[in-house]
Amino acid sequence: MSWRFDSRCTRRVGRKSWTLGATAILALSGLGHAQTLTDGQVDTVSARLAEAAQQSWEFGTRAQTILELNATQYSVFSSNALPPPATIPQSISDSKALDPFFAIAKNIVSNRAKSNNNTVGPQPLIQDGSAADPASIGVAVLLANWTGQDSGNIDYAGAAKDQLDFLFEKVPKTSDGAISHRVSEVQLWSDFVYMVPPFLAYYGVLTRNRTLVAEAYNQIKLYRNYLRDPKQGMWKHVLLGTSGNDEGFWSTGNGWAAAGSLRVLATMRNSEYSNTFKNEQNDLASWVREIHAGIYPHLDDTSIFTNYADQPPTAPGNFYDAASTALLASTVYRAALLLNEFTYVPFAERSRKALFNTTASAASSNSTSTLDSFAHFTEDGWLRPVVNPHSYGVQGNESAEGQAFVVQLHAVYREWVQNGSRGENAAQPRVTPPIWFVVVATAVAAVVAGAGLVF
Ligand SMILES: *[C@@H]1O[C@H](CO)[C@@H](O)[C@H](O)[C@H]1NC(C)=O
Ligand SMILES: *[C@@H]1O[C@H](CO)[C@@H](O)[C@H](O)[C@H]1NC(C)=O
Ligand SMILES: *[C@@H]1O[C@H](CO)[C@@H](O)[C@H](O)[C@H]1NC(C)=O
Ligand SMILES: *[C@@H]1O[C@H](CO)[C@@H](O)[C@H](O)[C@H]1NC(C)=O
Ligand SMILES: *[C@@H]1O[C@H](CO)[C@@H](O)[C@H](O)[C@H]1NC(C)=O
Ligand SMILES: *[C@@H]1O[C@H](CO)[C@@H](O)[C@H](O)[C@H]1NC(C)=O
Ligand SMILES: *[C@@H]1O[C@H](CO)[C@@H](O)[C@H](O)[C@H]1NC(C)=O
Ligand SMILES: *[C@@H]1O[C@H](CO)[C@@H](O)[C@H](O)[C@H]1NC(C)=O
Repeated sequence: MSWRFDSRCTRRVGRKSWTLGATAILALSGLGHAQTLTDGQVDTVSARLAEAAQQSWEFGTRAQTILELNATQYSVFSSNALPPPATIPQSISDSKALDPFFAIAKNIVSNRAKSNNNTVGPQPLIQDGSAADPASIGVAVLLANWTGQDSGNIDYAGAAKDQLDFLFEKVPKTSDGAISHRVSEVQLWSDFVYMVPPFLAYYGVLTRNRTLVAEAYNQIKLYRNYLRDPKQGMWKHVLLGTSGNDEGFWSTGNGWAAAGSLRVLATMRNSEYSNTFKNEQNDLASWVREIHAGIYPHLDDTSIFTNYADQPPTAPGNFYDAASTALLASTVYRAALLLNEFTYVPFAERSRKALFNTTASAASSNSTSTLDSFAHFTEDGWLRPVVNPHSYGVQGNESAEGQAFVVQLHAVYREWVQNGSRGENAAQPRVTPPIWFVVVATAVAAVVAGAGLVF
């Protein structure tokens, strides 16, 4: 891989030796390597995302990704007031950016009767053992209704309502009201925060139902109470089930929780209810901060998280995971833009540079669409290495959500640069030394001081 780069340098040496010097200095400072994706490369990553996304939450995550990259005006992360325009602006309809977004809604709602065995009334958008994951498609369905897709021939509003009612009426809950992530029993997964609360909040804003917006916040609060480890700050992955619990700090799960919380916060902020949800927005912001503060100290010098962030890559069943690394980094740039929270920006920058690093020359033109010479992508755009998205304890090859996280990271990074790259050089947080170090250091200091007195 690095051969390509070296041979270019060597070729230049023969002609202009100063070029080698300059290139070497740039390379040493890390600037000689392109560390951003071209538009063509993002399209390649997007194409792999479109192919791979076949499960309920993958459709929902892809839908959100389309908005964040290509139709930002319809993303809750834009600063536009919600609800968004019911008539799609000419520039967006001309670009066809929303076509794949609405295709997801249409495909899911058209096949709903088949998927759900002609059930009438409360039902998920698509049949699934997860009670939460189908709801991730809900925002796309709500927007299909809001913008009048298919001229009223497809009942998007009814499908969204059935999904909402299903969550409240058919899914088991904890005694204090946390909606289960599973249909068959009460079990809480950190993933839930990305799948359900953003849908509840968006539903509430479009239908002017403040209670639903409040419920989005309440569900995150309940989930945090159960899953957060107060010492570590990070969230455990799966609790309360009769089987299949996972008390580990799954990195992707922490990313889902942070990203879902930011979507709810942004939905509240851009809505007519913003002023009445000040405390809730502050809480959500502090819960995102808490996840970053818990997880980023575990980022090692590869700048890539392991699948369980607090475990070394050599621990049984653990390995490096570029997917969660991309998702978490995207939430750090979002926090910088939305909350003026810069503490972890230097960490996200490290991760981004590692993920988008290439040994090829920095001068790849905009038309370049392959990802050859990338350390963390195959030539045709698959992110590597990644956790198997359908079996969270093992490494996989092709992850739809990983592809989505890369595109989200690219999109928010682009916005952050346009906004002046604020926080690029934020002070690194001080790492508290472990208690044994304090004890030993104090003892050593005492001995040295004592010795000083003697001599
Ligand atoms: C964004 O738009 C480009 C250009 O139309 C397209 O190739 C790409 O697939 C889109 N990305 C996503 C995530 O929809
Ligand atoms: C669908 O409904 C039929 C008839 O009621 C029933 O026999 C079948 O088990 C149902 N299938 C599923 C997957 O629920
Ligand atoms: C569907 O859209 C209409 C506006 O066209 C709106 O009045 C209604 O509340 C929406 N329904 C849902 C469930 O979002
Ligand atoms: C808000 O939504 C909830 C849940 O669907 C519903 O029970 C309630 O009646 C709605 N409130 C209003 C004012 O529409
Ligand atoms: C961009 O940065 C400025 C401060 O430099 C800030 O006031 C503004 O809100 C930022 N824009 C966004 C979209 O975050
Ligand atoms: C990028 O790759 C080059 C060549 O392999 C390496 O020297 C450099 O340290 C890498 N940079 C980052 C940020 O990973
Ligand atoms: C390359 O892409 C960037 C970002 O989309 C754009 O600002 C720039 O004008 C493009 N350059 C060329 C030469 O097309
Ligand atoms: C990943 O790809 C390798 C080689 O192509 C294959 O041997 C392996 O089974 C794949 N693993 C998964 C989880 O798909």
